[in-house]
Amino acid sequence: MDDVESTRSELLSQVAAAADLDALERIRVGELGKKGRITALMKGLAGLDADARRARGQALNAMKEEVVVALEARKAALADAALDARLASETIDVTLPSRPERRGRIHPISQTIDEVVAIFGEMGFAVAEGPDIEDDWNNFGALNIPPEHPARQEMDTFYLPGYLPGERAGEQEVRRMVLRTHTSPVQVRTMVSQPPPIRIIAPGRTYRCDYDATHSPMFHQVEGLVIDRDVHMGHLKGCLTEFLRAYFRIDDLPVRFRPSYFPFTEPSAEVDIGCSREGGTLRIGHGADWLEILGCGMVNPLVLQNCGIDPEQWQGFAFGMGLERIGMLKYGIPDLRTFFESDLRWLRHYGFTALDVPSPVTGV
Ligand code: PHE
Repeated sequence: MDDVESTRSELLSQVAAAADLDALERIRVGELGKKGRITALMKGLAGLDADARRARGQALNAMKEEVVVALEARKAALADAALDARLASETIDVTLPSRPERRGRIHPISQTIDEVVAIFGEMGFAVAEGPDIEDDWNNFGALNIPPEHPARQEMDTFYLPGYLPGERAGEQEVRRMVLRTHTSPVQVRTMVSQPPPIRIIAPGRTYRCDYDATHSPMFHQVEGLVIDRDVHMGHLKGCLTEFLRAYFRIDDLPVRFRPSYFPFTEPSAEVDIGCSREGGTLRIGHGADWLEILGCGMVNPLVLQNCGIDPEQWQGFAFGMGLERIGMLKYGIPDLRTFFESDLRWLRHYGFTALDVPSPVTGV
């Protein structure tokens, strides 16, 4: 029986010494498998007499059982150790602060649009939109801007190559495509597509061939249009005064309406707000000076007619305002060109966070 005992102790120490699951598997296959040592010992039982075979058989079975149990135990211990090692090496420290995180900023133009929409929204205006590429009927013709008007000159207007097939019967002008020079074509689009009463604002991109500290070839305007049965100049003045005071957050902001001319409004006015330029710094509010801020007027009956609205029954007012301009004034941005230079340092300085949502409740 010494060989059983020696095999037992040898195998048990082999199992105990197995460094990993592969080594254990080699022991299991090599010693317990078909060609293994224990199997060979079992086969040797056949040549023994009954008593010896029983005694040696029991000893062999007990030994085999012991080795199997040791193998299983070692296997479990190795698996635990492997898991511990993985847990130790792949630890995620959930207490680590997040990496320096780049948060996005709202561009001042988007913020200005949101503010304007919030204020006019409260007055019952809906937002209308139109395309940047217009035909010259919507941009000029329907708005009573005659072919010889300086605004149509190549210098101011970006004309696109190609012409639109003449759709409007009797229309004399050649219809060219332009990058809209103002948001006023949205007036036309709105009037031809929906019956009055109308109360809309139309913020959006506009284009003129111009470039200096206060002009950029692409800039933004917001248009306003109100059409109803008995709208008059008093409504226009009240509406715009209210807007300007809310926008600049100055309850008694002086507002002045100065006679002017636009082909599409009659009468027309330019609106100025009070300011002071003492000491070379511009301050909005009470002061000795005025600052021009927007153009407006009563919609010219010719425009209503061009858009299929009966001027005997309907009147209205319209206005148009530069968004960069009012954004620069409110937020102290000195150069208009910087709006479109995509300089992240500028955006971090002048931009707004997602929480600065303008609303009648939180303010604008
Ligand atoms: N469209 C004019 C401009 O761009 C502004 C304006 C709009 C004036 C509506 C009167 C009425 O200068």
